[in-house]
Amino acid sequence: MAYNWPMHDSFRIKGLGGKKTLSGTIKINGAKNAILQAFAATALFKDSSTLSNVPNIEDTSRMCELLTELGYIINKKDERTYTLEIPENIITELPYELSRRLRASIVLTGPLLAREGEVTFPHPGGCVIGNRPIDIFLDGFLAMGATLEESEKSYTLRAPKGKDGKARLKGAEIFMRVQSVTATQTFMMAAVLAEGTTVLKNAALEPETESLATYLNKCGANIKGVGTSTITIEGGELLSGKGKVYKAPSDRIETGSFLVLGALAADNLVLEDCMPEHLEAVIEMLRRAGVNLEVGETTIKISNNGKVKNKSFKSFDIKTHEYPGFPTDLQAPAVVFLTQSSGEALVFETIFEGRLNYTEGLIRMGADIKLWDTHRVTVKGPSPLKGRELEGPDIRAGLAYVIAGIIAKGESVIHNAYYIDRGYENIEGRLRDIGVEIERISTP
Ligand code: EPU
Repeated sequence: MAYNWPMHDSFRIKGLGGKKTLSGTIKINGAKNAILQAFAATALFKDSSTLSNVPNIEDTSRMCELLTELGYIINKKDERTYTLEIPENIITELPYELSRRLRASIVLTGPLLAREGEVTFPHPGGCVIGNRPIDIFLDGFLAMGATLEESEKSYTLRAPKGKDGKARLKGAEIFMRVQSVTATQTFMMAAVLAEGTTVLKNAALEPETESLATYLNKCGANIKGVGTSTITIEGGELLSGKGKVYKAPSDRIETGSFLVLGALAADNLVLEDCMPEHLEAVIEMLRRAGVNLEVGETTIKISNNGKVKNKSFKSFDIKTHEYPGFPTDLQAPAVVFLTQSSGEALVFETIFEGRLNYTEGLIRMGADIKLWDTHRVTVKGPSPLKGRELEGPDIRAGLAYVIAGIIAKGESVIHNAYYIDRGYENIEGRLRDIGVEIERISTP
């Protein structure tokens, strides 16, 4: 199948040159890294499933295309609500090109293998932010009794025969050597249809997993301990989604990205429909740096931020960490913040080893950053930034370049808008609404 993805768009931004004039409200959408997993989880259902608060981002479109190729019928009930009709027998071979474009495709392997007894998939793609191996996935499936066949382009996993003679994974105790978010979710889903009990140890604590488990439990699953590092799942039959709706929690990474933008470039900014309780590490850091934040239950306000003359924020060190620590997905926007703060900060990216390369673009804009190794940089500030032409390398670093372009003096062009579109819905429209001069340049 040939796909028509808008790969070559760019953003042109007229920088504010350090002025803090943006003002208005941004509504936060449903979380990308919750909804993608929820789409994958529908393979555990016998009939249908309804997902709401779905963000209109490129990754959602890719996931829908993928499921459609596997035999699903997907309808949009309204702008943010999707109903999925699940075929009795789902196709078990993930399409190569689509799966390579979407890291979250790996999550589908769990429920598919558990349901159909077999799955074939290529090494998943996604953002280039490090090696991104899949050994933890393969080891876990083997522990659940699966066999693995590898070819040059793909992996095939087959479940063993269960007591009733049908192919069925076996419950197992799985200790994950690192707290992998998607591996935790994948095994949790696979275990829902496995024979017996599965115990996941050193499980990831991300809130997106909790929202998914709550929904699966409502639909008939038996998952306990989510939000702690030990998750226990009793295997059972296919789930029923009739009359039950999954609502994606609001995107904490989108919230954090706009908080950084607000601190650096807005006088007054209100973020609505967010969940500040999922962002404590970031709120704490920004407050300590001197950002005036008013945090409500579902809103965060930055007030009169542009009126404070000659105010410079204080630098802080960052060590990225699994939830509830400082999220790796906000490391790049935070580095832009640090370029505008007084002092020297050490940024230690502990999760991915390729996630600091984008700093080279900020250095070209005038930032004082030293890259010590693939995991560490120091950032000295404040440094005025100048508009430049840059290639966005991944979702979060692409958005960090947009923030840098907004605060810089002069014009910036950020190529690879597609990466930003993967995770942020209608970014240019939402930024224009608060006063950013940004336009999309489409190249056919
Ligand atoms: N890892 C292994 N082997 C594996 C799996 C992971 O060594 O089999 C390592 C990774 O290389 C990494 C660490 O474990 O060093 C943690 O990675 P994790 O598996 O948690 O990352 P992920 O599940 O692939 C999700 C998000 C990422 C986010 C990370 C960390 C989705 C679809 N992706 O990725 O989101 O950065 O967790 O929080 O949920 C993004 O949204 O921009 C993004 C990249």
